[in-house]
Amino acid sequence: MAASRRSLQQVREVITTAHEDCTPAQKLQFYDRWAQEYEEDVSVLEYNAPRLAAAVLASGCISNRESKLVLDVACGTGLVAQELLRCGFRLFHGLDGSSRMMEMAQTKKLYQELKQCMLGQEPLPSTSGGLLCLTTRSNTSNLQYKAELEHELAALQSLGLCDCITTQNIEKWEKATSKQEVQGESDYISGVIYLYKKMETIS
Ligand SMILES: C[S@@+](CC[C@H](N)C(=O)[O-])C[C@H]1O[C@@H](n2cnc3c(N)ncnc32)[C@H](O)[C@@H]1O
Repeated sequence: MAASRRSLQQVREVITTAHEDCTPAQKLQFYDRWAQEYEEDVSVLEYNAPRLAAAVLASGCISNRESKLVLDVACGTGLVAQELLRCGFRLFHGLDGSSRMMEMAQTKKLYQELKQCMLGQEPLPSTSGGLLCLTTRSNTSNLQYKAELEHELAALQSLGLCDCITTQNIEKWEKATSKQEVQGESDYISGVIYLYKKMETIS
């Protein structure tokens, strides 16, 4: 990740908007505006999700990583694929609702395919087989989005289209951006990593 030009306080002010209650469309507009500074800013928040998600995937997939397709859901600027590359994965498809975030991901030339998709409102488009990786915050302002994602994953699973490999709760996801977000003594918010195996029949 790049070194940030903004202080922690400045980053907190910038992204408080994203953690506030707003419509999904407003959230994506925020990410469109944030795309250029996203990586610099999340490094200030000690954002650990991409590295942790890659570690979870790597531990769940020991063999033939180079030939396993990973569907990176809400891929953003491509930080998860960058980490997965270091772990030996080579094949990535990315989905995100923000065209500007995906433009940043595109410049990394890591994804064979990038598609715009509004999660929670559109079904997950996908090609056959492989692994599905998804991460999200579990602080209070994100609980509705998290519930929608889990509902979508449960629906795919009940249709036999994918199978849960693991779901991992992470306590230190990133630094909180406001006092309201903090749970207990910690200065961090929590998050979740979902790893699923997609079945060959999904289309
Ligand atoms: C915190 S970023 C995480 C990006 C990437 N996975 C990472 O770890 O850097 C959240 C991403 O989710 C996307 N997102 C948020 N709400 C979404 C929605 N309803 N549908 C699709 N993408 C969404 C945003 O555009 C953003 O790229």
